[in-house]
Amino acid sequence: MIELRIRRASREDRGAIERLVELGAKDVRKRIGPHPCPVPIEDLGARGVTALVAEEQEKIVGSVAYRIRGGRMHFFNLVVDAKHRNNGIAKMLVAELETIARNANAKHMTLQTIGELGVEQLFVRFGFRVQSSKKEFLFANDRENALTTVYMVKRLGKFPTP
Ligand SMILES: CC(C)(COP(=O)(O)OP(=O)(O)OC[C@H]1O[C@@H](n2cnc3c(N)ncnc32)[C@H](O)[C@@H]1OP(=O)(O)O)[C@@H](O)C(=O)NCCC(=O)NCCS
Repeated sequence: MIELRIRRASREDRGAIERLVELGAKDVRKRIGPHPCPVPIEDLGARGVTALVAEEQEKIVGSVAYRIRGGRMHFFNLVVDAKHRNNGIAKMLVAELETIARNANAKHMTLQTIGELGVEQLFVRFGFRVQSSKKEFLFANDRENALTTVYMVKRLGKFPTP
């Protein structure tokens, strides 16, 4: 069995993460057209932004960036290499984020996604709920093409959800 390892990203991982995030964004563009860009990779390591990577045989196959501030962990740029999807890698990355958030005494985890991507259900499975959902017209040619910004939150109770 091939072993998957989740670890904190180091400076040396920056190029690999950048490529993965760009491929993920390309995927997303194909599906829903122009959309808000992922957070620039230069922000990693700055302003308290940290990242986790999922590594298989020394190859980075998944990544997520996060920041903890004011009792809240916000995460973004969650991406898994297309060839490695549906193997529970996103689930493992988010579970590790939750452990980090709890250890830092954060009370909530939050994320923002685009409704048209159809990944809300994935986060619902991880215990998140939709806090707000709003049509954004910035990337739209007309009303029909407007994208929906969905903000999701998970309250971290005393005990981790299984
Ligand atoms: C979304 C993404 C990160 C999921 O990664 P993944 O490693 O394939 O997800 P997992 O295998 O951990 O899936 C966990 C669960 O969610 C489900 N799931 C996976 N993708 C899903 C989707 N698009 N919609 C709904 N559920 C989904 C799986 O069936 C699994 O359910 P289970 O635990 O009951 O078996 C990956 O498809 C990706 O990188 N997409 C492109 C970038 C993107 O859209 N990022 C999210 C931006 S908010």
